[in-house]
Amino acid sequence: MTDLKDIENRRDIDKLMWSFYERMMVDPVIGFIFTHYAKLDLNAHIPVIADFWETILFQKPVYKRGPKAMEVHFDLNKKVQLRKQHFTRWLYLFHQTIDELYFGTKAGLAKERSVSIAKLMQNRIGTLPDCTEM
Ligand code: HEM
Repeated sequence: MTDLKDIENRRDIDKLMWSFYERMMVDPVIGFIFTHYAKLDLNAHIPVIADFWETILFQKPVYKRGPKAMEVHFDLNKKVQLRKQHFTRWLYLFHQTIDELYFGTKAGLAKERSVSIAKLMQNRIGTLPDCTEM
């Protein structure tokens, strides 16, 4: 049994995203992508990514940037060669954050959808395989 609640509303998504990005930014495997290449301003970025997840989890069409979700990663891939290991780590941290904060149908759906979107993204980008020297 768990005493964790499910992801129920926008506030829950915001909390999930802040916690996820806080750990990504300092992560030894992918942190550099966010701090060095993308130089993300979290106060501007988190509302956008939270819109994306609110649209997916609650079918609320607040994310209006459609294909941008894929395109920004093509552009990023031109600056940093995204590898399978980066996606594996992204997913690991996303699932770890969810599991620490939430439990339930929406939490499960978020994990499921992240895996399928990451797969699609890697196919579209043509992600390079793991590099053992990294
Ligand atoms: C290796 C894995 C990933 C890395 C390094 C990464 C990195 C980034 C970065 C740096 C941005 C900001 C780009 C910019 O504003 O210029 C971004 C945006 C975004 N990412 Fe990712 N990402 C990854 C995987 C994913 C996955 C798997 C998803 C979805 C499940 C996702 C969803 C998004 C969305 C929705 C945006 C906002 C797009 C917009 O501006 O409308 N990312 N990502």
